[in-house]
Amino acid sequence: MSRLKGKTTIVTGGGQGIGAAIALRFATEGARVVIAELNQETGDATARDIAAQTGADVICIQTDVSEPDSIKNMHDKAVAAFGVVDVLVNNAGIAVFHEPLESTMEDWRKCMSVDLEGVWHCCRQVLPDMLKKGEGAIINIVSNHAFTVMKSTFPYPVAKHGLLGLTRSLALEYANRGVAVNAISPGYVETPVADWYFNQQDDPVAARAETEAKQPVGRLCRPSEVAAIATMLASDEARFMIGENIVIDGGVTIRMYE
Ligand SMILES: NC(=O)c1ccc[n+]([C@@H]2O[C@H](COP(=O)([O-])OP(=O)(O)OC[C@H]3O[C@@H](n4cnc5c(N)ncnc54)[C@H](O)[C@@H]3O)[C@@H](O)[C@H]2O)c1
Repeated sequence: MSRLKGKTTIVTGGGQGIGAAIALRFATEGARVVIAELNQETGDATARDIAAQTGADVICIQTDVSEPDSIKNMHDKAVAAFGVVDVLVNNAGIAVFHEPLESTMEDWRKCMSVDLEGVWHCCRQVLPDMLKKGEGAIINIVSNHAFTVMKSTFPYPVAKHGLLGLTRSLALEYANRGVAVNAISPGYVETPVADWYFNQQDDPVAARAETEAKQPVGRLCRPSEVAAIATMLASDEARFMIGENIVIDGGVTIRMYE
């Protein structure tokens, strides 16, 4: 498989979960991969593991996407190592879930600084070179919280709704200059965070079964299934797709109340 042969790619938050699956799939498809990860330890381990599995060039650069200087440093190092960035996947995100009036301004700022502003900072960094080159792809990992809401998950859906707006704004702005900006909205994905959540419950097995039963498909999404969509959007085959939001949630958001 070589759909991304020779492309320089950045996956933010690629040390674990969905981002690690995207990094692995991109490497399998022939890309050079930069894992831009807050947690240096998991980022390095994942980069080493993927390089060993695929033989691809994979590095981790410690990055905090909420800090513009950290992103500039990551981008400088990425370009020095692998050349101009062809594909940016804005995957790093944090779930900040509260009842609105019980949340603090600190919760608000933390959530916005990573889930919304972090994405914009990363886009600002890679876009000038992409526009100069006349090609590039930006893929934002959003959520079905970007167009439906659940009680007491505030302010995460606010940031994710905004992220869809950011995706569409940039997509339209740069469509005729060779840069395609799109989004993927996963539903409930099988990640270390999901495991952690189930293990906190009194009966982890029952908690998992209950969640799975709520999914029309009857199971959680596999990170590799999100990675498959990201690969399609990153490849040259998807260049007529502009500002799209591909929902991969096993049918949760098409269901009427039952
Ligand atoms: N897991 C789900 O069910 C699900 C569903 C819909 C959308 N999403 C979105 O998918 C993305 C990935 O989710 P996940 O479940 O794999 O998360 P995760 O928590 O398993 O992994 C996120 C990674 O991002 C890193 N990270 C966190 N803050 C960062 C920062 N400031 N700078 C750089 N890296 C940072 C973490 O260290 C971690 O390695 C997120 O944007 C999330 O909102 C997840």
